[in-house]
Amino acid sequence: MSVDQRVRDHFHADAQRFDAIYEDEKGAFTRWVDTVWRGVVRRRFELTLERLAPIANKTILDVGCGSGRYCIAYAERGAARVVGVDFAAAMIELADRHARNTGVAPRCDFRAGAFPEAVAGESFDASTAMGFFDYVADPATIISRMREMTRSTMIMSFPKSREWRVPVRRMRFLLSGCPLFLYSEKRVKNILSEAGVTRYDWISLDRDFIVVAHL
Ligand SMILES: C[S@@+](CC[C@H](N)C(=O)[O-])C[C@H]1O[C@@H](n2cnc3c(N)ncnc32)[C@H](O)[C@@H]1O
Repeated sequence: MSVDQRVRDHFHADAQRFDAIYEDEKGAFTRWVDTVWRGVVRRRFELTLERLAPIANKTILDVGCGSGRYCIAYAERGAARVVGVDFAAAMIELADRHARNTGVAPRCDFRAGAFPEAVAGESFDASTAMGFFDYVADPATIISRMREMTRSTMIMSFPKSREWRVPVRRMRFLLSGCPLFLYSEKRVKNILSEAGVTRYDWISLDRDFIVVAHL
């Protein structure tokens, strides 16, 4: 089975559990696990909204949108149009449901498909790919496609290869059968250069490197 098929199957089965990271109501143990092991998920969400502001009237692409939390937040802040792409069907079902429940569905377009094929030929003011490159075998090609489709800003996260939680995370993904890709600072910078991204802010956040690229 290919890397993409294994990633898709993993997130199709794991969609509810992943989405629950964004919920506040949970038991003490789950809260502890989500804070210590997955706290970065919510911290990078807040950082992305700060760095993308002002969001009003922008068109935004979210690559690997998962359950749509970023897209919905963009639409709630006045984005003109938001497109979220994810090849895990259960993630897109959750995203559509959240968008309907929050009343932003008319400005959100969620597509169950692979990036870049699902948005070929389209362009956006900004694009984001958060918690995405952890699962991508050829990040330079994906970033090049994102750059071609983006006019102004790209925000991306890359999980650090040297970090105290890495051994446990590696073991968890090995047992689940889902590929996991981790990065050194040097490797991310080489990938950005290969993809033609030369102007960016570099942020070290918890277990991730965050890149805010200015095009
Ligand atoms: C950890 S989730 C992150 C979701 C969301 N960005 C967030 O942070 O809430 C990563 C998502 O990327 C999706 N994904 C990975 N590679 C993809 C590809 N080539 N095309 C579309 N979706 C992809 C997976 O299905 C998964 O739902």
